[in-house]
Amino acid sequence: MDRLIAVVSGGTRGIGLGVAEALVKRGAAVAVTYNRDTRAAKQAKELLLQSAGVEADVLVLQGDVADEQVVADQHEAVRNTFGTVNVLVNNAGIMPPRTFEDITRETWDETLRVNLSSAYSWSRKTVQGMKAENFGRIVNIASLAARGGGVVGPHYAASKAGLLGLTRYAARELGPYGITVNAINPAFIRDAGIFAGWSEERREGLKDKIVVPELGRVRDVVRAFEYLLDSPFVTGVALDVCGGAFMI
Ligand SMILES: NC(=O)c1ccc[n+]([C@@H]2O[C@H](COP(=O)([O-])OP(=O)(O)OC[C@H]3O[C@@H](n4cnc5c(N)ncnc54)[C@H](OP(=O)(O)O)[C@@H]3O)[C@@H](O)[C@H]2O)c1
Repeated sequence: MDRLIAVVSGGTRGIGLGVAEALVKRGAAVAVTYNRDTRAAKQAKELLLQSAGVEADVLVLQGDVADEQVVADQHEAVRNTFGTVNVLVNNAGIMPPRTFEDITRETWDETLRVNLSSAYSWSRKTVQGMKAENFGRIVNIASLAARGGGVVGPHYAASKAGLLGLTRYAARELGPYGITVNAINPAFIRDAGIFAGWSEERREGLKDKIVVPELGRVRDVVRAFEYLLDSPFVTGVALDVCGGAFMI
């Protein structure tokens, strides 16, 4: 493996952008994907180019990660531009809050397609190249909801628990080829996703759900990611980055 060539799905905001930034700072060629927010995508590209310095290799690709053809086209674009993908971060996710009372089959299906099936599609596309290189890192961004159920709804918890099953299976099959597959379970990351839009007062209310004094930040998830990136002997694990919330 000469160089890290990475794909970060949903890499234009929040956790995905933090991970992409860490990768470009290491000199990796990085492709980030997004679906709708063109403004965020433009800002992300500027930030990543700045962080990467002169030899910037940054690709920003638009398209719905739930669509297998989109994933196939994006994979082709990355391969043609950078070469074989050896780092895959399945991060794109949606979390529409629903209860059993108000969820529709459409929301259930959409959440599973975006949060879970996309990780299968991207993994399937990239493992062949990783196997040929005898090196690969796949990190699936799940959620503490995969363990405790969480509060978003049945669709979200099921999609994230599914990611943990996919992680463990893939780690077994791909380990012999030097490919590690791990998950990160974030919770209460104050500067990403829904919590980023909350008022300070409302975020304060989340503190009784964790055992440490402060909520998490994107950089806490990035640290976990970098640990997994650097660890050839750690595979099949799900690292909780959640302020000890699983104990409450
Ligand atoms: N923030 C937290 O506390 C927390 C806790 C637990 C788990 N997580 C997980 O961490 C991951 C990242 O969350 P975040 O908080 O950083 O979210 P975020 O700020 O909302 O960012 C989500 C990213 O995913 C992209 N995306 C969403 N749907 C997509 C689709 N259909 N196709 C392609 N890209 C799509 C978004 O692009 P567009 O905006 O263009 O659609 C955006 O780049 C998610 O999987 C989430 O479930 C986060």
